[in-house]
This record gives sequence, structure tokens and C-alpha cells, in this order.
Amino acid sequence: MTGAAPPPAGLSDPGHGLRLRAWGDEDAAALAAAWAVPDVRGASRAPADRSPEAAARWIAGAGTRAATGLAVDLAVCALDGDEPWGEVGVVRRRLRAPAEGGGPTREQVVWEVGWWVLPDRRGRGVATAAVRLLGTWAGPALGIGAWVARIAPDHVASQRVAAGAGLTRRGRFDAEHELWAGPLPPGPPPGGAPGRV
Ligand SMILES: CC(C)(COP(=O)(O)OP(=O)(O)OC[C@H]1O[C@@H](n2cnc3c(N)ncnc32)[C@H](O)[C@@H]1OP(=O)(O)O)[C@@H](O)C(=O)NCCC(=O)NCCS
Repeated sequence: MTGAAPPPAGLSDPGHGLRLRAWGDEDAAALAAAWAVPDVRGASRAPADRSPEAAARWIAGAGTRAATGLAVDLAVCALDGDEPWGEVGVVRRRLRAPAEGGGPTREQVVWEVGWWVLPDRRGRGVATAAVRLLGTWAGPALGIGAWVARIAPDHVASQRVAAGAGLTRRGRFDAEHELWAGPLPPGPPPGGAPGRV
């Protein structure tokens, strides 16, 4: 990714009734509330300060993170609503990971995918559909062919999300995580090609 990748607009999966959109100023309170949920906080790149003001600053930085090729973080919403249900995102990291196409593990720059869904929206296929939707866009838009995820060995729900998005377990990453990796889901997005913000 060379940067200057704007978050998509109109990136939707009508079959699962959801869409992805950029975080906006109006989401600061909702994002701060989500960061207060312990397992969401553990799965997000939230700052130490979890106040609505900090959430507003984090949201304000999203455009720069995308434009400089560092990360793209998108809110998951209903097809016909703006209320955030969760988040999916990709971040560029230097990690020990298998080479694309399956080579030996070595330190390299990889794209890591992450996800969280608010507790009252879980168990309905939201995370799996949203990660797949992100992938159909991120492959061509960001020019990436593969991504990785770090998942705890006992986190069955996330393992199912990863498997549903085409990732496979590659082995132990560190004391708390296993590394999953795979190709991005093939496009186009179920709702058609997205526009731009
Ligand atoms: C992990 C998480 C994103 C799953 O969200 P979700 O929208 O409920 O996931 P889905 O509905 O798409 O379910 C995906 C799969 O996990 C299974 N699953 C969901 N919750 C589960 C649970 N508590 N225990 C076991 N399996 C579960 C589903 O049955 C489904 O399995 P299938 O693909 O075989 O049908 C959500 O629990 C969450 O946000 N957790 C906290 C944040 C987090 O841990 N993020 C990931 C860090 S690696």
C-alpha cells in the first residue's frame, strides 16, 4: 500500500444486512462506550485514555492513518442505519509471519486484520460477514494479497471468524496468541463496487 487510500463509501453486504463506513465525529461517544467493554478494549487499538474526547481524537486521526498507509479502521453498521455495531480494520505491522504463498516464517511487514462486535450484536454472523466484506475491498484498494490475525488459542469465536474469512492457523505466535494467515476474500464486494468518500 502506498497510502492515500480513502475509506470506502457504499461498501455493503445486503445479504447480511450490513455495511462498512468511516468513523465520524458523531461516533465519539459510541466508540468510547465500546472501548469500555473489556473484550472490545483488548481487541482494539484504543489509547490509554478511553474518554469520548480521546475517541474523537482517534477518529480524527483515521484519515491520516489511511492516507499514510498505516491502517484503515471502519465502523460496521446496519445497511439502513448509522449506529455502530462493531469495527473491522487492517493495520500494517512488522511481525514474524509466513511468507505469502506459504514459506518459512520470517520477520516482515504484514497487514493484520482485526475485529470486534458489540455484545448485543454478537452471534448473528456480523463479524464474519464484515471481515469478508473488508477483504473484498482491501485487496484491490490497498494492493494487498494476504493478511494475518493474532488470535488466542482458546478464542473459539474469533477462530471461527478467521476461518470464515479464509484464514488458516499457522502456529504459535507468542505466549498468548496463535498466528492465522490467508489470502484476502475474492471480490467484488457483495453490494457492488464501492464509491469513494
Ligand atoms: C469474536 C467476535 C468478533 C465474534 O463476533 P460475532 O459477530 O458474534 O461472530 P459471528 O456471529 O460472525 O460468529 C462467527 C463464528 O463464531 C461462532 N461463535 C460466536 N460466538 C461464539 C462463542 N461465544 N463461542 C463459540 N463460538 C462462537 C459462531 O457460531 C460462528 O461460527 P460458524 O462460522 O461456525 O457459524 C465477538 O465475540 C467479539 O467482538 N469479541 C470481543 C473482541 C475480540 O475478541 N475480537 C477478536 C480478537 S482476535
